[in-house]
Amino acid sequence: MSNGQDLRKRVEELRERIRYHNYRYYALDDPEISDAEYDELFRELQALEAAHPELASPDSPTARVGFPPLEAFDVFEHPVPMLSLENAMNEGEMIEFHQRVQRMLGVVEGIDYTAEPKMDGLAVELLYENGRLSRAGTRGDGYRGEDVTPNVKTIRAIPWTLFALPNAPPIPSLLTVRCEVFMNRKDFQDLNRHREAQGEPLFANPRNAAAGSLRQLDSAITAQRRLKAYCYGVGVLEGLRLETQWDLLNALKQWGLPVNPLSRLCHGLRQALDYYRELERKRPELPYEVDGVVYKVNRLDWQHILGEKTRSPRWAIAYKFPAHVAETRLVDIQVQVGRTGVLTPVALLEPVSLAGVVIRRATLHNMDEIERKDIRIGDHVIVRRAGDVIPEVVRPLEEKRNGSERRFVMPARCPACQGTVVRLSGEAVHRCMNRSCPAQIEGALRHFASREAMNIEGLGKKIIHLLVERGMVHQPADLYRLTEADLVTLPGFAEKSAANLIGAIQKSREPDLPSFLYALGIPLVGSHLAAVLAERFKSFEALRATSYEDLVAAEGVGNKVAESVRRYFENEDNEKAIQALLKIGVQPKALMPEMVSQDMHDFWQGKTVVLTGTLKSMTRDEATERLRRAGARVSSSVSGKTDVVIMGENPGSKLQKAQALGVAVMDEKTFLRHLA
Ligand code: IVH
Repeated sequence: MSNGQDLRKRVEELRERIRYHNYRYYALDDPEISDAEYDELFRELQALEAAHPELASPDSPTARVGFPPLEAFDVFEHPVPMLSLENAMNEGEMIEFHQRVQRMLGVVEGIDYTAEPKMDGLAVELLYENGRLSRAGTRGDGYRGEDVTPNVKTIRAIPWTLFALPNAPPIPSLLTVRCEVFMNRKDFQDLNRHREAQGEPLFANPRNAAAGSLRQLDSAITAQRRLKAYCYGVGVLEGLRLETQWDLLNALKQWGLPVNPLSRLCHGLRQALDYYRELERKRPELPYEVDGVVYKVNRLDWQHILGEKTRSPRWAIAYKFPAHVAETRLVDIQVQVGRTGVLTPVALLEPVSLAGVVIRRATLHNMDEIERKDIRIGDHVIVRRAGDVIPEVVRPLEEKRNGSERRFVMPARCPACQGTVVRLSGEAVHRCMNRSCPAQIEGALRHFASREAMNIEGLGKKIIHLLVERGMVHQPADLYRLTEADLVTLPGFAEKSAANLIGAIQKSREPDLPSFLYALGIPLVGSHLAAVLAERFKSFEALRATSYEDLVAAEGVGNKVAESVRRYFENEDNEKAIQALLKIGVQPKALMPEMVSQDMHDFWQGKTVVLTGTLKSMTRDEATERLRRAGARVSSSVSGKTDVVIMGENPGSKLQKAQALGVAVMDEKTFLRHLA
């Protein structure tokens, strides 16, 4: 390139072309060039910008790699509340919906509906001022969400600037667009595979992965997550009159926003129901999770007449797909040993395809579950995946038994170490009692190294297995004695990777106190309680020396936790492992008084809260107690009066009910943040 002007022109041209191809790819789903050609344009632009920083621009498509990290999210107020949808679970309920619409409009014929795939992700509102994306926020409770602007700006499908194609309606000066941000199944699987290798906790389903990715304080992380989005509606639309939802979808598309190309205009109920069946057939082949069809009365003046209830419009409904189920044979039951010695039975299945994923294993939870469901080895069983990673055995098909099925017996000896297995009174689970069981050691080390604990990057499952198998590591302190020379003897290690891992291990020598406490794996002490204990006792020594009475007196610590902490420190093996860590120079940093977080309890004052599923960091009783102390009313069933549903693992029907009623659902992490 000869002079600065040519260069500037080329850079502008590249940016224009990339923006155009983004639009072809994401908005029209109709790319004109191959991925490789696109990458080439992108790299040329990156190279030019890197070589000529004076040409860099915050508007450049290359800027979608992230923005400076935030301390916390701001509140995003929705100018028009983001409502939820009522569900139809079967054809009968769809017909009822249609009849209600007919009745309220006083019209029998000529009711058209738009049919849009109900994307299983999270709702986000985009604010465009004079065609430029200025802010973006999550749905939150429908009135206030979190401002996730930098994160949304990394999503390539979402244009920073709108443009009107010829014949398109003019772009409103003030416009808010509602969209669903989601992750493709394939990208979700890749992400989880990567996380597993890194020893990081897995996301349960693509929806959680999308939500977790969007709610990152560091947008550089979001940028790596390959999020997608489809737009389906507006909140504010200033200076433009449209007649129908279908025109609206087309306008969005013509302004460069991505709209699901599978959306259709249906004339009457018959076509609407046909569309449902058609999409259900396509469902396994779609690259993303769809949990139903959203129908909206097409005419906007009719929508206006039908109006809204408190949480949902009367002019729209979500006709849900049934959960994914399949029949297969349970070939055998294997027993897995976790870090605390708990034995978990896992069903080995004849491979079966469920929603486009081949299932080979499913959890059976524990012995009580197997007995309650009367599941036997050799049974034909129904398995279910509710968009989750871990499929579940729902029930056996008793009518298909031929007498060859066997009842499962929990082994009396640990499958990993042959140690004694016992079932303690009052516990649902069986445990291996051998403290030097390799499966437990591996589990404990994985936990120790994990992100929320000591955060040792690169120390994943496979490497830990090798280290334990070869007798190189027996307890966490041994990690700090490893040398590069030790690691290069392991398969797959070169000098560079060995040096990196040793570096990562050494870097973890001065953990903050909450991470260290969590890393120890004290029973019942999850990351939240670790933070609570750290806050109260300030130093590791103080906590270790404290009495049961002082522990129970601490806010947020119940008698079970206090007992567990005392028992942990009184155990001789634990004491030795801790001594070894301290001796080798691992030094948890004491908490400074100013690090103690502020009281956020006002958030809970007067709210009605329902718990569902199993929380990882505390028991249900503890959660109830803490919520009550924070001023909330904890109720056992979901109703229109519920403000928040807190969702743990394996949430039950309360979650569905909450979703149906449009009640805000909070995951455990958010819950802990709001308690902290
Ligand atoms: S319309 C007033 N359309 O479903 C209408 N929602 O249960 C409100 N969703 O929060 C939503 N695809 O996250 C609408 N084509 C679509 C949708 C859709 C997915 C989600 C969205 C919303 C939830 C409502």
